[in-house]
Amino acid sequence: MARRLITRFLDVNDIPALLQLESRQWDATQAADASTLHKRLQAHPDLCIGAFCARTDEALASLFLRPINEHDIRNARSWADCAGHDRSNTPGAPHGLFGISLTSISPQAGSAVFAFLWPHALKNGWRNGYLGSPIPGLKRALEEDPDLDVEVYARSLRGNLPRDPQLRYYHQMGFPEIIAVVPDYFPHAQSLDYGVLLRGTVPLSQFCPLWRLLPIGVLERVLGWIARRLESMHASPTGRRSRVLSRAKESMS
Ligand SMILES: CC(C)(COP(=O)(O)OP(=O)(O)OC[C@H]1O[C@@H](n2cnc3c(N)ncnc32)[C@H](O)[C@@H]1OP(=O)(O)O)[C@@H](O)C(=O)NCCC(=O)NCCS
Repeated sequence: MARRLITRFLDVNDIPALLQLESRQWDATQAADASTLHKRLQAHPDLCIGAFCARTDEALASLFLRPINEHDIRNARSWADCAGHDRSNTPGAPHGLFGISLTSISPQAGSAVFAFLWPHALKNGWRNGYLGSPIPGLKRALEEDPDLDVEVYARSLRGNLPRDPQLRYYHQMGFPEIIAVVPDYFPHAQSLDYGVLLRGTVPLSQFCPLWRLLPIGVLERVLGWIARRLESMHASPTGRRSRVLSRAKESMS
């Protein structure tokens, strides 16, 4: 049965629960510590989102973002380049949001944080989302075929979806476009430390000027209505994203 979730912006009081979540899904070399979480929360409190179990207050998913320019993404040589410093090398307004970290122990909560983000991203005029994904199938793929090129692996499909399980997940979440395959991106044994920089478009962001005019409460209701219309897409093979949008309906109704 689906758990009742509370999805909201995070604050520093959430750090103990977030540390527990980090330790469930990341090893010691990967997990954010209290000081890192504190810095993220201070830098962009409106871009740090969590989903909690309504009964136990357990943190089930977290999403940390920051504004970024595509130029900086294209020139990034590691996750730290994209996430570590709250600065841009490129003058002008940031083009989009970079996903510093997504952590989830519940698919329902993972979808809920994206759904919560959606109206806020539209309201604030964000059109593009970027993230760096591990490719956890790489190590095994190279064991089976030592001559396999990593770029070829990252771009290879099984059916219409990426061969790698995590790229498949992000493809279904609306991040289909590979910008770059980056060695020594982030410590991740199964990915041999490679990361794949991905780009996605915020759904309905082509109507950005309209969304910016609407109060957030009205925007949430409009998106809730649209998400209800998308429910019929659930059975499609790429239905994960429509489930995300539909989750928005649940959290907005
Ligand atoms: C990636 C993550 C956020 C997805 O969480 P979720 O929404 O709760 O969903 P699940 O963990 O059930 O994974 C969803 C699907 O993606 C696949 N997937 C995602 N990450 C994967 C990984 N590292 N290895 C293998 N499969 C993975 C799962 O197999 C699953 O496929 P299925 O739906 O066909 O069963 C979560 O697995 C996580 O926190 N992983 C560790 C940290 C991480 O890699 N974060 C993202 C960094 S960019």
